[in-house]
Amino acid sequence: MSAGSRGDSGDDPAKEIESLRAEIWRHNHLYYVLDAPEVPDAEYDRLMRRLQELEAQYPDLVAPDSPTQRVGAAPADGFSEVRHEVPMLSLDNAFSADEVRDFDRRVRERLGRDGDVTYCCEPKLDGAAISLLYEGGRLVRAATRGDGETGEDITANARTMPSVPLRLAEGAPAVLEVRGEVYMPLDGFESFNAGARERGEKVFVNPRNAAAGSLRQLDPRITARRPLAMYCYSIGRLEGASRPAGHHAALAWLRDLGLRVNPEIRRVNGVEACVTYYNDLLVRRAELGYEIDGVVCKVDSFAEQDELGFVSRAPRWALACKFPAQEEVTTLLGVDFQVGRTGAVTPVARLEPVFVGGVTVSNATLHNMDEIERLDLRVGDSVVVRRAGDVIPQVVRVIAERRPRGARRVSLPTVCPVCASDIERPEGEVVARCSGGLVCAAQRRSMILHFASRRAMDIEGLGERLVGILVEQELVHDVSDLYGLSVDTLAGLERMGEKSATNLVNAVRDSRETTLARFLFALGIREVGEATAKSLARHFGSLDAIVAADESALQEVPDVGPVVAHHLRAFLDQPENLEVIARLRKAGVRWEEKVVERASLPLAGETWVLTGSLEAMTRDVAREHLEELGAKVAGSVSKKTTRVVAGPGAGSKLRKAEAFGVEIMDEAAFLQFLRDHGVG
Ligand code: IVH
Repeated sequence: MSAGSRGDSGDDPAKEIESLRAEIWRHNHLYYVLDAPEVPDAEYDRLMRRLQELEAQYPDLVAPDSPTQRVGAAPADGFSEVRHEVPMLSLDNAFSADEVRDFDRRVRERLGRDGDVTYCCEPKLDGAAISLLYEGGRLVRAATRGDGETGEDITANARTMPSVPLRLAEGAPAVLEVRGEVYMPLDGFESFNAGARERGEKVFVNPRNAAAGSLRQLDPRITARRPLAMYCYSIGRLEGASRPAGHHAALAWLRDLGLRVNPEIRRVNGVEACVTYYNDLLVRRAELGYEIDGVVCKVDSFAEQDELGFVSRAPRWALACKFPAQEEVTTLLGVDFQVGRTGAVTPVARLEPVFVGGVTVSNATLHNMDEIERLDLRVGDSVVVRRAGDVIPQVVRVIAERRPRGARRVSLPTVCPVCASDIERPEGEVVARCSGGLVCAAQRRSMILHFASRRAMDIEGLGERLVGILVEQELVHDVSDLYGLSVDTLAGLERMGEKSATNLVNAVRDSRETTLARFLFALGIREVGEATAKSLARHFGSLDAIVAADESALQEVPDVGPVVAHHLRAFLDQPENLEVIARLRKAGVRWEEKVVERASLPLAGETWVLTGSLEAMTRDVAREHLEELGAKVAGSVSKKTTRVVAGPGAGSKLRKAEAFGVEIMDEAAFLQFLRDHGVG
């Protein structure tokens, strides 16, 4: 935790408690009322835990108005208030398997049980809790959780959400109040932010804030445009029907009534099964398509829940088992500028090392100068760092309130930190570039490293250090020089023996046998990533056909738009580049070429979109199959889309497809389609 945030007051517990309370109240207000949290949840949780610990240690110091005794803060102006007849409570947190076992032990002790307790395990969605009230099967009111006692009436907004049924199915009770979490699926969050960035509007720092912010729009038309979804996880009030015997059965009933319930929910026996569930979901966290910050384990039997009851703010029968935080606070120590293989000068944040998203992070990309400006980032700032799934760490915001005096602004250097050539930033472009081209050792180094990388030419043993030496000693000027390196030359280099030199020469020689797609990718042409290289290879079949294609012919390739076509042409029109290719071919680099008849492919001219998750294959594999059949696979739905394949979790794209009347296929139909066409 960063200094100053804990409210440490030496040895005086009363003072520490007081300052913790003040700090927590302030965060509650920022979070619940202003929708503008200052610190990540992990830090808030630590403050709360510390306060709980101290209050447990000094029970005399517990006060009725302590934040441990209440949840959240009062609702903001603008919405009318809703009193929750059954309070919307919070959950106690556990941060380790042992704490989950402690919870189970307490549960068993209270129930006087020796054997296993049956639990219902659920993903803990990271969104905003709401309550939906149905009377006679019709949605009559929706409310935010607010402080747990009083929330805000957001009925008009909830009505805009496709996953909130306005009427329940046959058999609905007279009164049913359900609770659940509203969230923004990750693809929706990313496309929403991309759009907002393009329009120069405010971007959301994470999907949770996006969901909470979208729900609290005073204009429901704005909410309607936000890709929100909801999963129900409990019943509040129930009249006119008897409650099922357990939580899992209750959720199944809600599902039958037409409410959305998370498909990952499982009923399990005993605490070890809860731990297994936790570990399994932790591994699959990044694949879910929405953010979760842990799992919730609930005693399944309602009779047992009633017996266990509540303590102040949380039930004794449920526990939130938190995952490692995906956001943490740390300090920005400096900003370095890195030069990539296309000369792009990228600012990189140097951070006080911090454990976030399961790894220790000490660097984060800052993308470009616009991003630094947008964040208003200064050296010395306390920053929130986020690492979700496999995504590279990001600085998502600055905690301006903690800015130290004299924090230094960051400016773009005028010359390249490596070769001292001018740095250029053409009007209207966000990326600054070193103008040195291959004169710049950094560009040459990264170009060669990219060429040798596993997914490109796959030359084992050619790492960063060695490439640095080869470039520095002018043994390798461009990638074709790699094929002329001899064991003698290499063995004489620092930290290289005869054996590793021989291995490297062999690896270089073996790399000559490759595929056109890998070769194209290895050339490091701007905007030509692996997927584009594959599309190009599949479409044209030979390098000569690509070299001969003009920009419009290049744009016929799925994935290739005007920008990529332009970069391709610019690369291929550069005589030096063609010379390098010729030298590589002369050195024996080769691949299979074929003649492709485009128009004859069955899906030629069609554009497909894949959305949601697929069980039988990844979306990348599905895309390859479709491209093999001649279809173009696009990222967004338009009127021109031929078909949409929608798996579970499909959101805005599916809705758009429905709106445009585009044909929609589920996974089963898609798999059949592939089989009918002899692929898959
Ligand atoms: S049950 C009395 N189940 O976590 C039990 N909560 O820290 C109340 N949440 O306010 C909650 N997923 O917003 C429950 N499957 C789940 C949940 C869940 C997310 C949120 C909810 C609640 C917060 C408690």
